[in-house]
Amino acid sequence: MKKLITITILISVLIGLGTVAYAAEEVNLYTNRHYDTDEEILDRFTEETGIEVNVLKGDSDQLIERIAREGKNSPADLLITADAGRLHRAKKREILQSVESEVLNENVPANLREQGNYWFGLTVRGRVIVYSKERVDPAELGGYADLSSDKWQDEILVRSSSNIYNQSLLASLVSIYGEDWAEDWAAGVVDNMARKPQGNDRAQATAVAAGEGDLAIMNTYYLGKMLNSDNPAEVEVAENVGIHFPDGENGTHINVSGAGVVKNAPNRENAVKLLEYLSSASAQKFFASANYEYPVNPDVEASELLQSWGDFEPQNINLTELGIHNETAVKIFNRVGWQ
Ligand SMILES: [Fe+2]
Repeated sequence: MKKLITITILISVLIGLGTVAYAAEEVNLYTNRHYDTDEEILDRFTEETGIEVNVLKGDSDQLIERIAREGKNSPADLLITADAGRLHRAKKREILQSVESEVLNENVPANLREQGNYWFGLTVRGRVIVYSKERVDPAELGGYADLSSDKWQDEILVRSSSNIYNQSLLASLVSIYGEDWAEDWAAGVVDNMARKPQGNDRAQATAVAAGEGDLAIMNTYYLGKMLNSDNPAEVEVAENVGIHFPDGENGTHINVSGAGVVKNAPNRENAVKLLEYLSSASAQKFFASANYEYPVNPDVEASELLQSWGDFEPQNINLTELGIHNETAVKIFNRVGWQ
């Protein structure tokens, strides 16, 4: 009898340990993404590694604030959010840590990761100029610089400067051309606006299709979403606009959605493993195409739709610059009255 009890206790202890050991193999992911395909990707990661992924979804800025507030007690291991400007904010908020990983260095090109390895881009979007196919001859278009030219008087549609996408676009121009040039450019764009900034990126394309102006600035993935929308009106809008990728010496403004390992990550190693997995060729294709974005991993091809838009030359800067010049960009927007 005594032996049986001992064995029972031993088994319970083993099961207990087993549970503890198993439960320890987990990673807590805070993410702004909400795609069904992500769940499949994470499931596959769990199958391959045995590491359970606990997902907390939320708005990007709120997730950053939440991790900051949780401080040392934060269960967050990995943060996924969009825009290098916002990732920079997370770093400045001191909620991320640097990661040395040969896998990441190989899978993520140097210009798409933070210079000190505090965050890594996972998907790429371009911030492009779209034009009315009815009213604009694409040969007339000349990249961002041209948007401040008189010939586009009352023709430009663009959202508010409070949006991080526009802040990062202007920050890139500060980095490339300097603050004075960027301020003249922003003032010129304000002069050429078809209306006061309002609505999101998709609303700008809608306004072009409705004839409010000839040109709009928007992120590439929104066009992908509109073309694949259940709403026929959105599909029609997207079919009515053409895409102009600024080229020449400074190319198209690109940005990333990306991830950083959280400063106090309780499961740091697993967070690095998950980050490496998301940058791997096998995950990248699905991870990028879920939101009609370009993969960061150079071994992976973009989706057919994105390839059909043609190749383009991205701006030749490290995306860390977008964060470094964010404050300057915001000040310029205020000075030139870009609401
Ligand atoms: Fe967006």
